[in-house]
Amino acid sequence: MPRRVIAKARRLVASKKSIVVLLAGFAIGFIALSLFGTSMIYTGTEQFCATNCHEMANNNTREYRDTIHDKNRTGVRATCSDCHVPHSPVPLYIAKMGALNDLWSHHVTHSVDTPEKFDAARQMMATRVWTYMKGNDSRECRYCHDEAKMDPEKQSAMAQTRHARAKKEKLTCVDCHYGIAHKVPDGPGPQEIEVDKAFISRSAIF
Ligand code: HEC
Ligand code: HEC
Ligand code: HEC
Repeated sequence: MPRRVIAKARRLVASKKSIVVLLAGFAIGFIALSLFGTSMIYTGTEQFCATNCHEMANNNTREYRDTIHDKNRTGVRATCSDCHVPHSPVPLYIAKMGALNDLWSHHVTHSVDTPEKFDAARQMMATRVWTYMKGNDSRECRYCHDEAKMDPEKQSAMAQTRHARAKKEKLTCVDCHYGIAHKVPDGPGPQEIEVDKAFISRSAIF
């Protein structure tokens, strides 16, 4: 029986038809992967995140312009995706799936399509970002800012004392450095919000 099956399989592989099917499979796979890769790159560009929808262009993007992460002495920048999505592949894909929610909001529910609606939802949205950043110990900030490579001698006296305090009190970057790219809402800031432990251990990975 197994021998017969093997012989049949051999005949199948040898036939022209199966080679065509195999090649077509490779071609479709290659095209699908390329489309996936291209969409991952495109949806992470500044052009896509900052200017493609009026919700961002009229609010967060406008506020971000000319902040230190947009324009500075050296021209080395952090743009939307640098701060807002993970840098490693699998967590990035998961984050992009979550962002489908934003498409729904833009096209269907129109939940933040006017400046008034945007401001009304700002505290909730900012709290979501702070929770994410506190959960993963400001991982996206640390992708560029390596605490171990910061030279306190080159920092201001204020930065030196606060950073020493940050270590002692186990505060994370965004606990103090918030509103660095956008307008801050009036409600409780990141140090006043509680992030539960289960969320922290999950978001350290994703
Ligand atoms: C893609 C890299 C990158 C990421 C991500 C990033 N930064 Fe920066 N950050 C920079 C650069 C570049 C500068 C400006 C350096 C200069 O002065 O030219 C800067 C400057 C700063 C400064 C100094 C501000 C000042 O006025 O001197 C602070 C504070 C800071 N970043 C905090 C953060 C925090 C908090 C996050 C995460 C929410 C973050 N950064 C994410 C690259 C990054
Ligand atoms: C306890 C609050 C606190 C925490 C937590 C904190 N910082 Fe700061 N940081 C400060 C203060 C205050 C300054 C000084 C601001 C000034 O001089 O205007 C500062 C300054 C800086 C500067 C500019 C240094 C300079 O001298 O120009 C950078 C960059 C920076 N912080 C990055 C970070 C990063 C990255 C983290 C997380 C690893 C972090 N900070 C955590 C309070 C904090
Ligand atoms: C240096 C890091 C950094 C960059 C660059 C950045 N953001 Fe943010 N973003 C934050 C932080 C931190 C918050 C949480 C609220 C706060 O502290 O301002 C936030 C909050 C938000 C929110 C929630 C609403 C709100 O205003 O709080 C949106 C939406 C957003 N960002 C979109 C963007 C877009 C679009 C860009 C690019 C044009 C961008 N961000 C660039 C750090 C950043």
